[in-house]
Amino acid sequence: MAQVRLQNVSKTFSNGNKVVRNVTLGVENKEFMVLVGSSGCGKSTTLRMIAGLEQVTSGKIFIGEQLVNDIPAKDRNVAMVFQSYAIYPHFTVFENMAFGLKLKGYPKSEIIRRVNEAAELLSIKHLLTRKPRQLSGGERQRVAVGRAIVRKPLVFLFDEPLSNLDAKLRLQMRTEIHKLHLRLQSTVIYVTHDQVEAMTMGHRIAVMKDGQLQQVADPMAVYDSPKNKFVAGFIGSPPMNFMIGRIIKKDGRFYFNEGSILVKIVENMNEKIKDFVDKDVILGIRSEDIYDKLFVSEAPPENTVRVNCEVVEPMGSEVYLYLNTGKHTFIARAHAHDRPQVNQNMELVFDMSKAHFFNKETEETIC
Ligand SMILES: Nc1ncnc2c1ncn2[C@@H]1O[C@H](COP(=O)(O)OP(=O)(O)OP(=O)(O)O)[C@@H](O)[C@H]1O
Ligand SMILES: [Mg+2]
Repeated sequence: MAQVRLQNVSKTFSNGNKVVRNVTLGVENKEFMVLVGSSGCGKSTTLRMIAGLEQVTSGKIFIGEQLVNDIPAKDRNVAMVFQSYAIYPHFTVFENMAFGLKLKGYPKSEIIRRVNEAAELLSIKHLLTRKPRQLSGGERQRVAVGRAIVRKPLVFLFDEPLSNLDAKLRLQMRTEIHKLHLRLQSTVIYVTHDQVEAMTMGHRIAVMKDGQLQQVADPMAVYDSPKNKFVAGFIGSPPMNFMIGRIIKKDGRFYFNEGSILVKIVENMNEKIKDFVDKDVILGIRSEDIYDKLFVSEAPPENTVRVNCEVVEPMGSEVYLYLNTGKHTFIARAHAHDRPQVNQNMELVFDMSKAHFFNKETEETIC
């Protein structure tokens, strides 16, 4: 069993830099947990503390049942794959993969068996005699993963392993790491700043900001029910649209008044939104929840808005419309063949059942 538990873990560097703040996180046995957040938020530092490469300032880290705070990295039974791969240039692929096992004094026959097995799994058997400089970026990345696999660790720690690869290779390696996890059935903590990787790979996603965990949940829960505005804006591409406006009540119904546009709030949100009448809030709505009225058969008039279309961006499978209310700009994803006139007013329909509202002061989700 190899669950990983972080209990109120904090890290302050000697220069007083407080980069991880009171992180509590449980990773289940065999789970694929993705730690995601923007650059500098403390992801690598968190991973390095789990690996034992960085001391914890306060809090506890458990791997399995064992408290590992004072256990040196080499005895933690975790393997880390670094962004830079960190493979030795003067060693062959075989020697790179064998190195850790050799240091631990494994018998030669066992080393050969394990390296061959991992090379087979990663389709790099034909590369075993090559030096790293004779490999492509993707192949080097596989060697780095291979070196982690041969150790048969309890936990794999990946620190942005795909960020040096081009877009196509990244996509390919993403699915390969996915498949590898299914085969190895190991516990994985995977760090990335790429929300697409997070969405597609994680059983659960832990979203981090300024050293603090914002939300830990399965990808669709994070996408559909973000805990606050930061998470809402971070997960999803294009990012969620935000507009500031006022909640008003008219004839027992609640509306969001942006100044230029007015939309009706769906009734099942009334209970939560009623405390904000005559106050400013932030409306959040994803680009796929806004439709060109021309393509909607029965558009509810109370959710139809008139805005200016500034840019039309054909993406092939769909079209991005860049729109302006006069106060806010936002994006809608429209039908592939939709070609509204640029710099003309057009009518759009907001699917208000998919809208989110955030407290303007705290940025926490209201509903
Ligand atoms: N040894 C150190 N001493 C002082 N500050 C450090 C040290 N290492 C990292 N930091 C700072 O800690 C913060 C978090 O760094 P960390 O590497 O954990 O971020 P990250 O989330 O992995 O970012 P990235 O996505 O860019 O890799 C940064 O502001 C960084 O400058
Ligand atoms: Mg990092």
